[in-house]
Order: sequence, then C-alpha cells, then structure tokens
Amino acid sequence: MPHLGPSHDQRYPDADGYFGEFGGNHYPPEMRAALDELAAGYRDLRASPELQRELAAVRIGLQGRPTPVHHLANISKRVGGAHIYVKREDLNHTGAHKINHCVGFALLARAMGKRKLIAETGAGQHGVALASAAAYFGLECEVHIGATDADKMSSNVGRMRLLGAQVVPVVAGQSALTEASESAFHAYVEQHAHALYAIGSAIGPHPFPQIVRDFQSVVGREAREQFLSITDGALPDHVVACVAGGSNAMGLYSGFVDDTDVALYAVEPLGASGQHAATLTFGRSGTLHGARTVVLQEDDGATAPVSSVASGLVYPGIGPEIAMLQESGRIHVDTVSDDEAVGAFFRTSRSEGIIPALESSHALAFAIRLAAHRPSSERILVNLSGRGDKDVDFVLAKYGADPAAS
Ligand SMILES: Cc1ncc(COP(=O)(O)O)c(C=O)c1O
Repeated sequence: MPHLGPSHDQRYPDADGYFGEFGGNHYPPEMRAALDELAAGYRDLRASPELQRELAAVRIGLQGRPTPVHHLANISKRVGGAHIYVKREDLNHTGAHKINHCVGFALLARAMGKRKLIAETGAGQHGVALASAAAYFGLECEVHIGATDADKMSSNVGRMRLLGAQVVPVVAGQSALTEASESAFHAYVEQHAHALYAIGSAIGPHPFPQIVRDFQSVVGREAREQFLSITDGALPDHVVACVAGGSNAMGLYSGFVDDTDVALYAVEPLGASGQHAATLTFGRSGTLHGARTVVLQEDDGATAPVSSVASGLVYPGIGPEIAMLQESGRIHVDTVSDDEAVGAFFRTSRSEGIIPALESSHALAFAIRLAAHRPSSERILVNLSGRGDKDVDFVLAKYGADPAAS
C-alpha cells in the first residue's frame, strides 16, 4: 500500500524531541549545550552526501551488510502453522545489530571533531561493536559495564580490550545495565568537550532516540525490500522483536510501521520466579535516563530491580518511541520467560544450525508460539538481533548441552 503524507519517521519526534507524550530532554540544563551540539552535528551528517556515502561503504565493507532474510524452514515445518523468517542481524560484524548505530556514532564523532566515544553495555554486544567502530575511525573508546555483566560476559570484555577500548566495571546497585548507563552518562557530562556519548539503545534524552532509530532503520529498509522479493510482493503479516531499550525493534519496525496491516510485536523478558524486566507490561509513566517514558517502578516511585537470563534485556525502561507505539495501540506487547527463551535457544541451534543470542531467543520463542496459532498462509518476520556465542558458556554451565534438561 502506498504511504500518503509524511511517514512515521518524518512525523516523530516533534521539534521538541517528543514522541506523543514520551521523550523530550529531562537532563539538567547544563547538558543543553552538549545535546544541542549533538543535534546540530547529526543534522549536518544527514545533509552531507559525502558522509552518507562513507556510511554506506562502511556498512558494506566493515559490517558485512546487507544481512539476509532467511526462512526457518525446519522449525516452521515442525510447528505446522505460520512460516517464520529471520532478519539475520547476527551476521553483522561483531555479532549483533548494535554495530548499525555504533558506526554511525563513530562517523558522527569524527565529523564533529571529537576524539573519544563513551558508552554503556549490558550483554557486551554494544561495547564490542563500539570498540570496533572506534578502532576503525581512529577514536578512543570508554565502555562502562556492570560488574555482574562483566563476569558473565567475560569473552566480550576481552574482545573490547583487544580492540583497544578502556573497560570500566561499575559496582553499584545491581551492577548491571542501569548502573552502567548512569556511570557512562556521568563520564560524558565530564568529558563532552572532546567526547561523544554513543548510547546503547533508542533511549535517553533527545536527540539520542531519533539518532539510534535512524541509524538502525537500515534493518527495516533492507528487510522490507528482501521480503517483497522473496515472497513475490507480499509483506510479512507479523513483525517480531525483543525489546530492552528498543533499538533492534525500532530498526525493524521502521520498515513496516506505516503498513497498518502488518502487526508489530514487542517481546519482553518475563525472567523467572517473579523477577523480570517486562517494562511495557508492568511499568508506568515516569522519567528515566533523561526521557519521559514507561519505567518499572516500586510503589514509592523508585526504579525497580530487574532480571532476565539475557543480560542485554535487563533494563527497567524503554525507548520513548516504543512507549508511544504501545500507547497508540500500534504494537502488541507480550512476554517470554527465561525457560521459554532458553528452549528457543536450543531449538534454533539444533533445528536450524544457528545459535541465537539469548536476547533474540525471546523473539524467536514468541514467534514459535504465535506460529502455532496462525495459518500456514501467514508469515512472521523476526529480528534475529544477535548471535549466541557470548551465551554458550553460561548456557552450558547452567542447563547442560541437552535441551531436554532446559
Ligand atoms: C543481541 C541483542 N539483542 C537485543 C538487545 C536488546 O537491546 P535493544 O532493545 O536496544 O535492541 C541486546 C542488548 O544488548 C542484544 O545484545
């Protein structure tokens, strides 16, 4: 169906950085100058054909784009319902979708005359992607990671160091992604004269959610074109992504959000034993990391502790654009438990020869559940946001090599 009028991505955010009632800039006024400088730098990058050409070349050479859309024929056959397809973001250089916005931020930093990139990481995927992009563009890199995540993701910590990044372990609170984000932002506040904050997801104050979405939208653009070509002109009926902050989801959604007959799904981690990180399902309106959004909160308004088998999903907030899409009813929100995600991890490994990230396994588990209830004439497209190499040691130690044990 042709789009009439401005597209979703042109309409949002508004001039003040809002997605409906969500978003904006809720950091102290002293950050205003740095964020205005970032917005101006990003406008210049978008308007520069030369920089856009350079970004396109880096996407091909360094990143290995385009990534394919692939039919999970074995699982689809066994489930017997709708057909499941995956957008293979796991095939990106460094193993996840995160590098889509990391190379963008690195190019932006160089164009703005900054010499350093600062970020937080959870599963370590964003940190490794940023360290790689920084090395390529000749920039320094400082990555903050919760001490708990650093222990669990030791191979990614080693990769970041090998790529020349300074890794800062953060010991505070749950020593996870939330604390790493706060620590990284403070470092940015202190160093913004010569450093750029390459935020890990489509979160934070304006203009970060827009910048991350725009850099990630290459996923949706490619997927739409590839899907139409594979299916002789049909769009997917359902588009599925796991969500923490929402970068892989917004990247894929942006190719389909204006197609109102394509259903969009956000899959949240239900964790285990009542400990979860399902922000959209159980959260309420609040302010987190500089944006008005949906936040998991205690009764007294304090940010709630969060948990999931997938480190990259352990976040008590959500990007403001996803919060708006939920409020408007454009996306469906559902949850997947740790056990269900680990089941999909084993199943995709054994049946398809692909070891998915535990984060992406949440989206796969939901797609398998959905497929079983939909007719074989329908098609589900899942963002396979990353590969599971980083998770292998943890899964083998906790569940063994036998999927029946999960
Ligand atoms: C492979 C993978 N998928 C998904 C996510 C979740 O992040 P987002 O919601 O920003 O896509 C992460 C975060 O680390 C990740 O590593």
